[in-house]
Amino acid sequence: MKKKITILPGDGIGKEVTAEGKKVLEKIAVMFNHQFEFDEALIGHDAIEATGLPLPDETLHQLRNCDAILFGAVGHPKYDNDPTLKVRPEQGLLKMRKELGLYANLRPIKLFDELLEASSIKSEILKGSDILFFRELTGDVYFGEKGRKDGGNTAYDVMIYQRFEIERIAHKAFRAARTRKKKVTSVDKANVLESSRLWREVVQDIGRLYPDVQLEHQFVDSAAMKLIQNPRSFDVVLTGNLFGDILTDEASQIAGSMGMLASASVGDTVGLYEPIHGSAHDITGKGIANPLASILSAALLLDISFGLNEESGTVIKAVEQTLKQGYRTADIADSKTEKSKILTTREMGKRVIEQMGTPGMDPTALNTAKVVAATS
Ligand code: IPM
Ligand code: MG
Repeated sequence: MKKKITILPGDGIGKEVTAEGKKVLEKIAVMFNHQFEFDEALIGHDAIEATGLPLPDETLHQLRNCDAILFGAVGHPKYDNDPTLKVRPEQGLLKMRKELGLYANLRPIKLFDELLEASSIKSEILKGSDILFFRELTGDVYFGEKGRKDGGNTAYDVMIYQRFEIERIAHKAFRAARTRKKKVTSVDKANVLESSRLWREVVQDIGRLYPDVQLEHQFVDSAAMKLIQNPRSFDVVLTGNLFGDILTDEASQIAGSMGMLASASVGDTVGLYEPIHGSAHDITGKGIANPLASILSAALLLDISFGLNEESGTVIKAVEQTLKQGYRTADIADSKTEKSKILTTREMGKRVIEQMGTPGMDPTALNTAKVVAATS
């Protein structure tokens, strides 16, 4: 197979982890005899420094002309501490999602058994958790009108959804549920917000087309509580952009660490794959970031964008094997981890690649085949 993959390292640890994700893709190309051509483009703080814009036109052009995107992270402390700056790294990410029509963000929360002890949540509560989030990605308060008035002393961000935006992602969530435990939990704040009442109405309408799938609604505050109280009670979670952003960070604790969570953003055109963690400037340059979220994002890329199920499974299995052998990055190490098995970013990438030695391993770990079926 011949494919063009654009790597967008972005800022902070984005660069460090994406380098490992890319190496994994290169290894897959060699093992399975594919031709992956890579190019790189600027986004975020680096892009602002180089061009004045967080998403230069040249980057957008490259993204429109590739077959899949592996993205790292954007963000920089300079902006976090100065809210008056008008041009910001995150704008690059949001514009990219919007311009490429990436309206559905899939965040699989899959706990590797080996990491049961790495979470701050009790293992008997976590065991067996397997949740697939569908976070809407191009609407909501993120993209509604925003501004200031009263001489800058009043600020607003409009929470807005249109019927079609809810319909298209709801279809994807219900289709995914059909391949899993046949349950969709739609999360909103319909007791307060009008946009949530439309959300609930539309999800109910779409739900009627999938009578074999159980639909339940939860308010976001209660969902946040139930997620850590009883994560096994969730299968597919369908929610808007803002609630999805918050809940998936919370849910990352179910998978042990933010450093483990991969995501896929799909929609009208090319697919984008990224860890859910951010640029993490507190650990940037130390070589200790966990590359597994980027490596698992590469696995999602192979499966969802290229339909390479066996290749994807090979990557996931290699991650599983590496964890089984006791290797950890600092974020997922616990009191039982031997010191010599706490690896740097690069060492972890290398271990996973070594485990990929034999093709044809069981490609079931992340249920990605089912995700593909659901999103196509
Ligand atoms: C995410 C991130 C982004 C978001 C930020 C970096 C703009 O938190 O992908 O979850 O809020 O969507
Ligand atoms: Mg987030």
